[in-house]
Amino acid sequence: MRKTIVAANWKMNKDVDEASEFVYAFQEEMKDLDPNAEVVICPPFIALDAVAELLQESGFKLGAQNIHYENDGAFTGEISARMLKSLGVHYVIVGHSERRQFFGETDEIVAKKVKKALSSDLKVILCVGESLSERDGGVTEKVLERQVKAALDGLTAQQLTSLVIAYEPIWAIGTGRNATPQQAQDAHAFIRSTVAGMFGKEVATSLTIQYGGSVKPENAAELLSRPDVDGALVGGASLKADSFAKIVKSSPASK
Ligand code: PGA
Repeated sequence: MRKTIVAANWKMNKDVDEASEFVYAFQEEMKDLDPNAEVVICPPFIALDAVAELLQESGFKLGAQNIHYENDGAFTGEISARMLKSLGVHYVIVGHSERRQFFGETDEIVAKKVKKALSSDLKVILCVGESLSERDGGVTEKVLERQVKAALDGLTAQQLTSLVIAYEPIWAIGTGRNATPQQAQDAHAFIRSTVAGMFGKEVATSLTIQYGGSVKPENAAELLSRPDVDGALVGGASLKADSFAKIVKSSPASK
């Protein structure tokens, strides 16, 4: 059995007031409902504190969108694991394609961040996914295997219990063009088999693998109905409380 996890990735959107307004509205939408899925909200750094406070009694989890792999020191503009922990952060997104693409994050950097987060008792949402030219070139599995192996190399089976993988095909992010449920299922099954090759079948079977890329209220239920699709990482459609709540409500409890 593995948990379904639905996460909101707000990216560089919302100031503190807007973030707080979202949380009030989202909690209103979810009132008296016990969501089946675990819910994670990942605001920008500046809103973590306010959102942490508002989420305190809710059971919803707080996530950050990035982390640095060093403990502290001369790294202007960066945020460490300890700093995130001090705000009550539970999860951190690592290796999002926008960070890989625009901020030069290599597989090696991603691996360091994963290790630092897990050894600091933060849960990790590790993003992997191929570009359109890689998909068209028939190398999707090769890319996924490389990214997964690089990020998980050297971890223990125990650490894998605090890790979630998000399969996010780059061509589906923010484009309105989601992967078909079958494309998502195929990629998720491949990722799971790669993890099984590294850590064994039992670890791979318990691993939550989210799909991300143009998830909306209209397509969430169908995507999440696939056997290896265990949740969603939602960008654009997580910015409005009602649309994110619809996605959460349509998600099953576990697989
Ligand atoms: P999107 O983004 O839902 O806007 O496509 C998903 C993501 O980048 O995590």
